Amino acid sequence: MSDLRTIYVGMAGCGTVGCAVGDLLIRDHDALLARTGLDIRLVRAVVRDLGRSRAPHVPDELLTDDLSRLTGDDVDIVVEVIGGTSVAKGVVLAAIAAGKDVVTANKALLALHGPEIYAAARAAGVCVAFEASCAAGLPVIGAIQRGMVANRINAIEGILNGTCNYILSEMLEAGKCFADALADAQRLGYAEADPTLDIDGTDTAHKLAILATLAFGTYVEFAGIAVEGIERISLTDLLAGRELGLTCKLLAVGWMIDGVLLLRVRPVFLADTHPMAGVNGADNAVSLYGHAAGHVMLTGPGAGGASTASGIVSDVVEVALGNARRTFGQLPLFEPKMVKSATVVPPAAPDCGFYARFTVHDRPTALPKITAAFGEAGIKLVKVRSFDGDPPTATDGEHIVLLTNPASESKMPAVLKRIDGCVELTDAPICIPVLEPFERRS
Ligand SMILES: NC(=O)c1ccc[n+]([C@@H]2O[C@H](COP(=O)([O-])OP(=O)(O)OC[C@H]3O[C@@H](n4cnc5c(N)ncnc54)[C@H](OP(=O)(O)O)[C@@H]3O)[C@@H](O)[C@H]2O)c1
Repeated sequence: MSDLRTIYVGMAGCGTVGCAVGDLLIRDHDALLARTGLDIRLVRAVVRDLGRSRAPHVPDELLTDDLSRLTGDDVDIVVEVIGGTSVAKGVVLAAIAAGKDVVTANKALLALHGPEIYAAARAAGVCVAFEASCAAGLPVIGAIQRGMVANRINAIEGILNGTCNYILSEMLEAGKCFADALADAQRLGYAEADPTLDIDGTDTAHKLAILATLAFGTYVEFAGIAVEGIERISLTDLLAGRELGLTCKLLAVGWMIDGVLLLRVRPVFLADTHPMAGVNGADNAVSLYGHAAGHVMLTGPGAGGASTASGIVSDVVEVALGNARRTFGQLPLFEPKMVKSATVVPPAAPDCGFYARFTVHDRPTALPKITAAFGEAGIKLVKVRSFDGDPPTATDGEHIVLLTNPASESKMPAVLKRIDGCVELTDAPICIPVLEPFERRS
């Protein structure tokens, strides 16, 4: 090979993702060399606990607990897979200061400290690559930055958290309650030991902040995104939704409507015909709506060591080929001084349908009062169902479930309050939006 180049990689962290990166770089070394002309060598992996063996993925002789060994002359690229935002930030900034290019899968770090890190990298003339930070091995960052660069992106929608998607799928398929499905996700390694950031929607919002910044070319602050998790989703709602032809997903949406950016993470119902309704288990999906390319959807594993390592190693190759530095240096997106923050509009979204469920003691008395409250607010009901056996799993009452025509979300709190005032409810009402694919909404 005429243009063989040797690239030395140092890795911060060698857990689920780090071991899989080591596996790819070591076991697939020759295949990568043949494909890219790059002789990529993992020379070091920094961990906390040297006693834990990572073989066969990463040989013990490459392990150290000394983070300063990533900044020496024998490392060209630092791969950060420690996670979290404190130690990882120090590692990334130290690598940049030492003139190393950085590859990271750390969405929390970029969503919270992206501008500071990008500015440091630009000042040092190096780059930060982060394909695996959103949807792991799905090449969504590359799709936005390269494949769809000719497009004005009008919307992004995504199922971006494999843990939540697994829990929602497993509850419905196996008839499990939320807690049991979460325990399964942890046992199978999809969920973190502390899954709070997964299930409360924060992890999805971190990824949405990164993707929206890239797609809309305007800096999106994570703190500006309205976030709701899946904690309140019950098996009763999933089963009732299925009877109505609906599937529940934790969806990240970024819509550019009339120059205003709407960003939101929350559980929604999708009609079974929606392109993302069939994305189940730990899979992720990302839809990009470009003005020229139209609707492009990527789907597949969005978590796990191997999938994440795929995205990381593709970044290592892009960095080693010199492409990542050119992109990073050229795109004004990463120059914080040139980028205005997006005007993010919280909850006020365009009209959509709603699923609502009321748990009552006395269904015949409650039903006319509930339908009247919607009628008085000018909201038409498409379907009304009552359940007292199957699908409800609760034993604390009977359920009235209804589906509305598209309506303004701003009307819903008053309707629910009115119902609460005139109907004896045994539980708080549940109200979940029903979303159409973006192109059918605009
Ligand atoms: N797991 C996934 O499916 C996935 C998917 C996409 C992105 N990511 C991102 O990838 C990153 C890594 O995730 P992971 O699941 O691989 O995490 P993990 O299994 O917890 O691994 C973290 C690694 O970092 C090391 N570490 C932690 N603190 C350290 C310190 N102070 N000094 C040196 N080493 C330290 C740990 O060492 P010890 O092993 O000695 O404890 C461990 O090897 C995170 O940013 C995560 O968000 C993960």
